[in-house]
Amino acid sequence: MATGRYKIFSRYRSYHGATFGAGNLSGEGRRFTVEPGLPGFIKFDIPYLYREVVDFDNEEAATEFYLSRLNNQILYEGPDSIAAVFIEPIPGSNGVLIPPKGYLEGVRKLCDRYGILMICDEVMSGFGRTGKMFAVDHFDFQPDIITFAKGVTCATARLAA
Ligand SMILES: Cc1ncc(COP(=O)(O)O)c(C=O)c1O
Repeated sequence: MATGRYKIFSRYRSYHGATFGAGNLSGEGRRFTVEPGLPGFIKFDIPYLYREVVDFDNEEAATEFYLSRLNNQILYEGPDSIAAVFIEPIPGSNGVLIPPKGYLEGVRKLCDRYGILMICDEVMSGFGRTGKMFAVDHFDFQPDIITFAKGVTCATARLAA
């Protein structure tokens, strides 16, 4: 509603929940139960440097590779139809996949370039689970929105925001 756009990008190797909408957002196999699901949910590849098919010389090379693929995908999907990119800055249940140097900052720049909202899912990583209040605090960018739950109450009450 904020952007007037309808497509939502999220990554493979991500988990965003099990309800119908959140299930469509998830990039791993737990989403299969809600498929074929809703139109407009687009998945893109996550940098996965451990056992990756491509051997990168360094983290920066991996960052460049994945950002250029994301840029292409945004162009082919039509930037004007993309409302938001959802990212777990440090994924939880798909392995603790630390992003290569500059990657999240680069996604932020792509979002700014195309007027796309960057939404960080900190349901698992938020409230101190990575050593800082939020996982995004380890990096040099700011998301437009952070979603959180679990740790906000140490799970003593069902609360999410
Ligand atoms: C990263 C992440 N996002 C979202 C969810 C879903 O949270 P909720 O059950 O509060 O919708 C989970 C649940 O494990 C999660 O790990």
